[in-house]
Amino acid sequence: MNVTLRQLEVFETVARRGSFTRAAEELHLAQPTVSVQVKQLADAVGLPLFEQLGKKIFLTDTGKELYAACRELFGVWSRFEMTLADFKGMKEGRLRLAVVTTAKYFVPRLLGPFLKRFPGIDVALEVANRDTVLERLTANEDDLYIMGMPPQHLDVEVHPFLENPLVVIAPATHSLAVQRNISLARLVQEPLILRERGSGTRMVVERHFADHGYPLHARMEFGSNEAIKQAVAGDLGITIMSRHALALEPMRGNLAVLDVEGFPIRRSWFVVYPRGKQLSVVARTFFDYLKSEGAQLLAGALGDNYQPAVSA
Ligand code: PGA
Repeated sequence: MNVTLRQLEVFETVARRGSFTRAAEELHLAQPTVSVQVKQLADAVGLPLFEQLGKKIFLTDTGKELYAACRELFGVWSRFEMTLADFKGMKEGRLRLAVVTTAKYFVPRLLGPFLKRFPGIDVALEVANRDTVLERLTANEDDLYIMGMPPQHLDVEVHPFLENPLVVIAPATHSLAVQRNISLARLVQEPLILRERGSGTRMVVERHFADHGYPLHARMEFGSNEAIKQAVAGDLGITIMSRHALALEPMRGNLAVLDVEGFPIRRSWFVVYPRGKQLSVVARTFFDYLKSEGAQLLAGALGDNYQPAVSA
């Protein structure tokens, strides 16, 4: 079969983006060029690769098989390129990271010095909630995963590299902001704003309340820490979130960390990857960097010095 790597690359992009137009944009090609490449590939394969229903395109069964083969092929090829770069004494290539929503507050701060040190490395960073990150991990779509709650049911390597305390946050003007050692019984009387189901933070909070025998009732659920902080500042309720989500908080004067019994909930951030996965040189370099320098680099930069806006 006479197919070129370029045709496979174009096909993979169309399949991944689900659109000829978006693939053309990503590849900086004219759309007819993309269509011609895919047509030539389909001719060489001898079966259709896409079918069109209305305005949408879908992979045929042959297309799905070819897409899986492309992913494998490009994975192998990019590992080869990185190994080659390593043989030549260069650390270069792409680092694919998928991190849970809350990790977005510190991962860019870690990437800054890393990318300065290794200018040949570029990064694709996916930010999603825990459930989505686990789906990506199961499908082996990235090099490394950063999360606060590693999966129990998957065979993975798990390495802690940083503390991840969960704190209770209220509006600065809240009467509880000046109290000490607030009981959980008192806390549950407050309207709670929680992250969406599927979030790691949400799971830990649910467990914490269940372990202490208190029902958890969410007055509101948001898929974004930013929206939650705005809602707390707007006096709609209190919340529980990673202290790291308060780093560089522009609303610092509007929010207070409450002194609640059993808080902060002490946790860690973990770097995770499927057991047995052969890490690329670039991924291994970042992994070693996280483990050896991550915590030190972030010391003091993540709201660890966060003072309640109102203190007793
Ligand atoms: P989340 O995960 O952003 O999905 O809530 C954070 C965590 O597990 O600490």
